[in-house]
Amino acid sequence: MEMRLGWLADVIDDSPTLKLDGQAKQLLARGEPVINLTVGEPDFDTPLRIREAAHRALDEGGNGYTASAGLPALRRKVADYYAARLGVAISPGEVIVSNGAKQILYNALSILLNQGDEVAVPVPYWVTYPAQIAALRARMIPVVPSRPGWKITPEDLERAGAGRAKALILNTPSNPSGAVYTRAELEALAEYCRKTSFFILTDEIYEDLVYTDEGHIPLMTVAPDLRHRIVTVTGLSKSYAMTGWRIGFGIADEKAIGAMTRLQSHSTSNVNTIAQKASLVAFDCRDEVEAMAAAFRSRRDALVADMATIPGLRFLVPDGAFYLLADVSGLVDPERPVGGCWRLAEHLLQSEMLAVVPGEPFGVPNHLRLSYAAGEPTLREAAARFRRAAATFGG
Ligand SMILES: Cc1ncc(COP(=O)(O)O)c(C=O)c1O
Repeated sequence: MEMRLGWLADVIDDSPTLKLDGQAKQLLARGEPVINLTVGEPDFDTPLRIREAAHRALDEGGNGYTASAGLPALRRKVADYYAARLGVAISPGEVIVSNGAKQILYNALSILLNQGDEVAVPVPYWVTYPAQIAALRARMIPVVPSRPGWKITPEDLERAGAGRAKALILNTPSNPSGAVYTRAELEALAEYCRKTSFFILTDEIYEDLVYTDEGHIPLMTVAPDLRHRIVTVTGLSKSYAMTGWRIGFGIADEKAIGAMTRLQSHSTSNVNTIAQKASLVAFDCRDEVEAMAAAFRSRRDALVADMATIPGLRFLVPDGAFYLLADVSGLVDPERPVGGCWRLAEHLLQSEMLAVVPGEPFGVPNHLRLSYAAGEPTLREAAARFRRAAATFGG
């Protein structure tokens, strides 16, 4: 008898970044000299104090379930740390600990959306947003920025009809563009939001990786009056080189946190107890976080300097995160623009063993995303390979 899965089985696709990462890793396993710039994870190790705390937690035992929303002591630390950072009072009841920022988003969208609701999402977007929205039988309203810089304005939201949305997702610094919203830009967006009733999910998972003088501006700091409609999405994955530990933090109204917690109690329960206990010392490791951010900044500078001289390539210097989003339309055959970035990504992998991600799943065809979470010599070699592959690409 034919196996009949539900509708979601057909709708949901592999994360394209993980797919390409998988291909690159297969080649690596065969001993091929692949440079893998696909995946968004720091190549640093987790700070020593956090690893030591994990050892201690393991040795001391007592690692049964915790409360679904997280260890009370961790929720308290997160509340205190972000109260200082966001400039608003935050109680532990306004915090949830989930399996990465990804689960925070999924929990939040699940409790906010009804079937058929719409979610406004700026283009380009992280690939998981449309996937989660689709899984919840909601619809995405793509909001295309009208100005160069990959940042949306109130006018863009208005033009896209975002006013009818149930939620807006903002992401600063952005994956895949590396764009970082300034205070003035966020203030303008907040002004627009005040005229609407939608929830704002602000994904600030890259908050510590910002290379502008102004630095990261949390949405909450410019719109504390909207706090009951703001869900701040963050965590330890990127800043603390802890992607595999799966520690995400959600900060929101207590009622929303309560609903997210109930949902989580029936899906994954608490985050791994050892990882939570180790995370209690994370905020003591700010020196390490700053050192890693400084390294990402100089890597960005190295990559940007080399890529800027490749003919046919255009890009904006990313202000945050660890991605460079390059417009490759100058390299793609204008007679067949469709699928150009996939063809180029394939050519890069096959001819030069350089793995990058096509922009199409991020909503920007004819672009490629390169992650610069790799050492400077590797990035220089990657740029050299890119230059050679670009010269031999048939379009
Ligand atoms: C914009 C954005 N948000 C959230 C996440 C998920 O982070 P986590 O690993 O904590 O689930 C990522 C990871 O790639 C990301 O790029």
